[in-house]
Amino acid sequence: MAETSVLPNPLREGIRMRRTPDACAMVIFGASGDLTERKLLPALYYLARERLLPGGFSIIGCSRTPYSNDQFREKMRQAIVTHLNLDNGNDPILESFCKNVYYLTDNFGDPKAYSQLVDLINRLDQEGKTSGNRLFYLATPPSFFPVIVKHLGSAGLAKPKDPDKTWTRVVLEKPFGRDLESARQLNRTVTRVFHEDQVYRIDHYLGKETVQNLLVFRFANGIFEPIWNRRYIDHVQIAVAETLGVENRGSYYEESGLLRDMIQNHVLQLLSLVAMEPPASFDAKAVRDEKAKVLRALRPIPMEQVNDFTVRAQYAKGFAEGKEVPGYRSEPNVSPKSVTETFAALKLSLDNWRWADVPFYLRSGKRLAKRVSEITIQFRRVPHLLFQGAVTDSIEPNVMAVRIQPDEGISLRFSAKVPGTTPQIRPVKMDFRYGEAFGASPPTAYETLLLDCMLGDNTLFNRDDAVELSWELVTPILDRWKQDGEKGLASYEAGSWGPVEADAFIERDGRAWRRL
Ligand code: BG6
Repeated sequence: MAETSVLPNPLREGIRMRRTPDACAMVIFGASGDLTERKLLPALYYLARERLLPGGFSIIGCSRTPYSNDQFREKMRQAIVTHLNLDNGNDPILESFCKNVYYLTDNFGDPKAYSQLVDLINRLDQEGKTSGNRLFYLATPPSFFPVIVKHLGSAGLAKPKDPDKTWTRVVLEKPFGRDLESARQLNRTVTRVFHEDQVYRIDHYLGKETVQNLLVFRFANGIFEPIWNRRYIDHVQIAVAETLGVENRGSYYEESGLLRDMIQNHVLQLLSLVAMEPPASFDAKAVRDEKAKVLRALRPIPMEQVNDFTVRAQYAKGFAEGKEVPGYRSEPNVSPKSVTETFAALKLSLDNWRWADVPFYLRSGKRLAKRVSEITIQFRRVPHLLFQGAVTDSIEPNVMAVRIQPDEGISLRFSAKVPGTTPQIRPVKMDFRYGEAFGASPPTAYETLLLDCMLGDNTLFNRDDAVELSWELVTPILDRWKQDGEKGLASYEAGSWGPVEADAFIERDGRAWRRL
């Protein structure tokens, strides 16, 4: 029979089918924290609603605050209702979901808690509620990762119960390290206990539907790949703008700052998907190899040149969504003298054949004018202008914008003749919107990624080498910024588009930030 699918074979075979994972126990360390309530439990509940969770599925929450099983179940039930805006009434799926939630008090460093965990998991296995498969999710502050991993190892929980029939996996939340040395150290600690194939380093941006679509867009369409290179592309911009400030995360953010919080992971991941070569297949190794090659090709920024390739800034008071908001230094748990950056812009280069001389401009910030994440491919100008005279001013280069959020979609700007007898040219836009094209709202990033962990698909997770490579780029920048302190830290009004220094930074190259 004739082949009718539009997707090339490897891609079509590789695209995840909706499979149901094997029965398993999911152990969440840091279960009373914000991430569990806001993201993990709601995502798991949605998976239950979609009937994508396995028949035997139990959640074991572990954290320092003492709760009974029932108290913890109620807390999780409330969290799901609140965060998903559910009707608090009768919901049989929610009730049966919560019945399979258990709780253990654990200060993460006490071997007794791990033997209790062993007993509980074994009991659940025996009762047929799970079947020997285990997923450990580390949603604690990263300082606890080493101790938890070591104890899982000593309690015999890191090895699959029956290597031929069952699996054991561990998910590590970001941030993975705080510089190159600590990331290397953490990789060593984790891989002493778990095999690299068992380790899932999560970056929720990779679970976003539009981010995954980048691969399909690039490699399931024949028309873009031939122009996806230095011959046709002038430069690339990646922007991740947020309207939120640091909320109640002042202490975390003081230690982190924007470069660690957003660029080292999310933004560099986006860059590697835009810039990677086509993998030979859609399997995890092939995709992750190609992404790692991009990170390896990033030209290092030596400490002495950091100020030529970066801008950092901090928000001052201003307005966000119509309300007056304080400056960063007046946020709770933030030092009044803090020099932590809440905005950063970078210019990066890739030393390879495809991208030589094509700058990648990255920018991200908190308390900016709009919440929007977008990748912009700015094409070169036409080589010869036919339309001389006044009209030529309005011939703008083609721009392709991949909107990651909100209003997910892809648009292409090109020039068109304005109807009429006077020759006039104006830029117009061709627009694809996810919402309009597909109707149904996509799964959240955590749904996709949690399901992938249970299915054993680590394509969308970071491998040890990729994490270290991205820290390699970022660490000299952090070192220089630390050395410079207040000197060189720009300021911007909350609710603006960032510091004027960032505009000057890109204008120096005869370019401008795209209006988002
Ligand atoms: C997290 C950062 O990883 O990503 C937060 O720690 C940030 O500071 C968040 O707000 C942004 O994620 P999203 O999905 O809302 O764009």
